[in-house]
Amino acid sequence: MNKLYLGDCLDVLRNELEIKPESIDLIYIDPPFNSKRNYSVFFDDKELQTQRMAFEDTWSLHSVGDSLTELDTIHHDKLLALLNAYQNIAPQVFPYLVMMTLRIIELHKVLKPTGSFYLHCDPTASHYLKTVCDAVFGVKNFRNEIIWCYKLGGRPQKGFPKKHDIILFYSKSDEFHFFDDTIRVPYESDGGYVKTGRKIVKGKVYEVNPLGKIPEDWWFLSALNRQSKERLGYPTQKPKALLERIIKACSNEGDIVLDAFCGCGTTVDTAEGLNRKWIGIDIAPFAISLIKRRLQDTYGNDLSQFEVRGTPTDELSAIKLWEQNPFAFEDWWLTELEVFATTYGKKGADKGIDGIGQYSIPKFDESVKVGFQVKGGKVQSKDIDALFGAITKHKYNMGVLLTRYNPTKPMLNSATQFGQFEAVYGYKYPKIQIMTLAEFFSGKQLNLPKDNITFKSAATIGKGSQQNGCFA
Ligand SMILES: C[S@@+](CC[C@H](N)C(=O)[O-])C[C@H]1O[C@@H](n2cnc3c(N)ncnc32)[C@H](O)[C@@H]1O
Repeated sequence: MNKLYLGDCLDVLRNELEIKPESIDLIYIDPPFNSKRNYSVFFDDKELQTQRMAFEDTWSLHSVGDSLTELDTIHHDKLLALLNAYQNIAPQVFPYLVMMTLRIIELHKVLKPTGSFYLHCDPTASHYLKTVCDAVFGVKNFRNEIIWCYKLGGRPQKGFPKKHDIILFYSKSDEFHFFDDTIRVPYESDGGYVKTGRKIVKGKVYEVNPLGKIPEDWWFLSALNRQSKERLGYPTQKPKALLERIIKACSNEGDIVLDAFCGCGTTVDTAEGLNRKWIGIDIAPFAISLIKRRLQDTYGNDLSQFEVRGTPTDELSAIKLWEQNPFAFEDWWLTELEVFATTYGKKGADKGIDGIGQYSIPKFDESVKVGFQVKGGKVQSKDIDALFGAITKHKYNMGVLLTRYNPTKPMLNSATQFGQFEAVYGYKYPKIQIMTLAEFFSGKQLNLPKDNITFKSAATIGKGSQQNGCFA
């Protein structure tokens, strides 16, 4: 069955028995690029301009400390020699390369002998990663360096505008699958003139395939801009047209496609649409929650069954998560409620609000804003007062306290005292509400407007629709 895993792909690939050696037909990964910056997700609502880290893209020796220790476990002389050399000549990328090498080794293990591997990266890291892939896959299994060209983005003050990414394509062996008839593009796109099965270039006549030509190793496919319908607001989201070409070229219906850094799920969404089986892994609870919604919004009743692993499934496992990592617990609960976690993965300067949700009400021009506070420890009356103070300060319309422990009687009284928020006639909600972990797992719903618009929803397209850029 299709699966979404929350966790570090290294752990998932090593420990999940369901991802068997040599079982995957196609792997695409689009890992962070070592770009030394953090990606942020913004609300579409400019008023709030609340920022949070979607994921960290900075690797330091400290952050890959574990990987450094694990380096000794790599029994691959060439790889070790390569990484040791980089430690001296390119120390700035060494931690990143260690992190990636360990994961590429595991990905190679789960790939079928007929399988293909695509690594999406940029020119800052591609030359280093290529040497790692050469060592893991073997130089003879390098197939293509695909240049994805786009127009989006600015220009440097000096130098040429940077308008391409690099996708390294390797196979596990010579026996890899390549279904070229599924990815044909019109001949016209290379300047030739095609008439009745013939192509005429500079007066010379060539026979042509009626399906079109195989695209070259440079692809002009639009990147997602602010207006793109596909855009979900996840930084670094890739267009489905790109994934559609890769998936069609190297897999068949029913084959298994894996993305170990799946972000907001472009690979799994495209695989689902093309009737492939899929596995997605991401370390961010926010990504997993966004994917669940994206798939539901896109495919509705057509959506194949899938399981989510690594997220709490009952009160006990949620408490365990809190004990292990209170911030992950906070992120998990907020994202389950499709609320924007303001201090993702770490405690920022506490403004009394851990999450913000936005909702719409018919005939109410503004969005309704709700501030959330998550408590894993004991709670008391003053927590309710603090929440009320915080939402008043930030001008949010309502507040919700999410608590592991049951509220005390004075807390409930205090919450009731704050009365109700009435946006328009007929739409009244409690100003302050409380939900316990037990209530959440028993399916209790918060009394909030039904239309949660915190994260823009994917357009419902159903299966079988074509993306631009490919035709078959
Ligand atoms: C560049 S984004 C992927 C974007 C994706 N291709 C899309 O279209 O949405 C990289 C993703 O890798 C995830 N990530 C970073 N380190 C990870 C790890 N060790 N295991 C799994 N996912 C990781 C981040 O949370 C982020 O969502």
